[in-house]
Amino acid sequence: MNAPGRASDGWVNPLLDDRDKRLPRIAGPCGVIVFGVTGDLSRKKLMPAIYDLAARGLLPPGFALVGFARREWDNENFAELVHDAVREHARTPFREEIWARLSEGIRFVPGSFDDDGAFDKLTSVVSDLDQERGTGGNHAFYLSIPPAMFPVVLKQLARTGLATRDGDQWRRVVIEKPFGHDLRSARELNEIVSDVFSEESVFRIDHYLGKETVQNILALRFANQLYEPIWNSNYVDHVQITMAEDIGLAGRAGYYDGIGAARDVIQNHLLQLLALTAMEEPLCFSPESLRGEKIKVLSATKLVEPLDETTARGRYTAGWQGGTKVIGVLEEPGFQDSTTETFAAVTLNVDTRRWAGVPFFLRTGKRLGRRVTEVAVIFKRAPHLPFEKTMTTELGQNALVIGIQPDEGVTIRFGSKVPGTAMEVRDVTMDFRYGTAFTESSPEAYERLLLDVLLGAPSLFPVNAEVELSWAILDPVLEHWAKQDRPEPYAAGTWGPSGADRMIAGAGRAWRRP
Ligand code: BG6
Repeated sequence: MNAPGRASDGWVNPLLDDRDKRLPRIAGPCGVIVFGVTGDLSRKKLMPAIYDLAARGLLPPGFALVGFARREWDNENFAELVHDAVREHARTPFREEIWARLSEGIRFVPGSFDDDGAFDKLTSVVSDLDQERGTGGNHAFYLSIPPAMFPVVLKQLARTGLATRDGDQWRRVVIEKPFGHDLRSARELNEIVSDVFSEESVFRIDHYLGKETVQNILALRFANQLYEPIWNSNYVDHVQITMAEDIGLAGRAGYYDGIGAARDVIQNHLLQLLALTAMEEPLCFSPESLRGEKIKVLSATKLVEPLDETTARGRYTAGWQGGTKVIGVLEEPGFQDSTTETFAAVTLNVDTRRWAGVPFFLRTGKRLGRRVTEVAVIFKRAPHLPFEKTMTTELGQNALVIGIQPDEGVTIRFGSKVPGTAMEVRDVTMDFRYGTAFTESSPEAYERLLLDVLLGAPSLFPVNAEVELSWAILDPVLEHWAKQDRPEPYAAGTWGPSGADRMIAGAGRAWRRP
């Protein structure tokens, strides 16, 4: 029998679990098999996250890491790649003894995805690891590969029996976005995945959910009495969710062309932020409760029309960023003939009693003025101001801003008396900063999510219904834009196309300039 609060798959109900929450959660015997191991994500995020987990003592002693790629490499060559990636990108300092232990479990299988022989070899490597390292038949298959390759790899995992578990073992598949290109392709993709793995074995990574500051939205809302009473249309005027990047395509033109800002970021990260901001209180933090509430709120989320006025898209031209001259997106190699947007903004309503009439403005873009991701809840003005007009000319609207990155924290903006003999009121801010309030540094999103995969804790992974609902929200915008001309230009280093300003001005609001 499982201990109270603990399910057989390792998921722990925090309400029933009697363990000390400060105790680290350590993964049991297992291995991770990464497809697409030579890619950017693997080198910059996955390999360093695995090392960081090892350095924090959160991986089992016999942990195994298997790379699969079309390279004529042996185990040592692959270990070298991991070593360099860790040295360059890991969060925690490099320690020889940690590396020595980790590298003992590193294996490499050369081959292409349609090569039956290579997958047969992978099968024997995995079963050898079960003997040599005691991985116990528990394996996660990480698909860090283009979605077009998913069917081939999944078919191989099914054919070789790698996707099948025996008894108490587990086999899980981890999928990186994009989860499809639109609703139809997302459904097709899901059918392909669910032919091989059951839904509880599928972990879809939206790395924003692994960020501490994103999880803090739940703590802020549901652990406090202060905010929830005003978290509704009686008090909130509108919500702005911004994910601004200062980087350009950073060598990812091949991936980005045909995808664009809306598919790359709004469909997943920003709609997840909206869901966490707008959802009702979950019964508890079980995966079912949390995902259930997100599904409800996404079902109630609707585009505001007409889309010509309530959406905007753009692409950056040459400009200045941080004192450096940068090229426009059309000068990026591989992007010359593209009509793909690098900036996207949409207006949404959440049709529930709580949010009726409160617009949610979402925007994201590359090469914007500054790197910042935030959720800004802007409150209505006080219904009455018992001051002379001249005393409050510099008073804005109250705001609560959840800083996701790089300023991790929460800022509240409110009016305060300016020192002096007159009653002049002006905006001031009150700040909570992670860096000053806590001594621990935040783990990287991938560290948290990888550990959750190995623990079988699915709360922070969107289920298929969330993915499909998000596409259903976005599809009409994508179809609308596809019929239009090219995206509107904006100079690199600015805050996007003028259409985005027109969009929000049309709703009687203005963007924050973070
Ligand atoms: C990814 C997008 O999901 O998120 C990238 O594909 C984007 O285009 C990245 O640059 C941003 O992630 P972060 O964690 O740096 O905000």
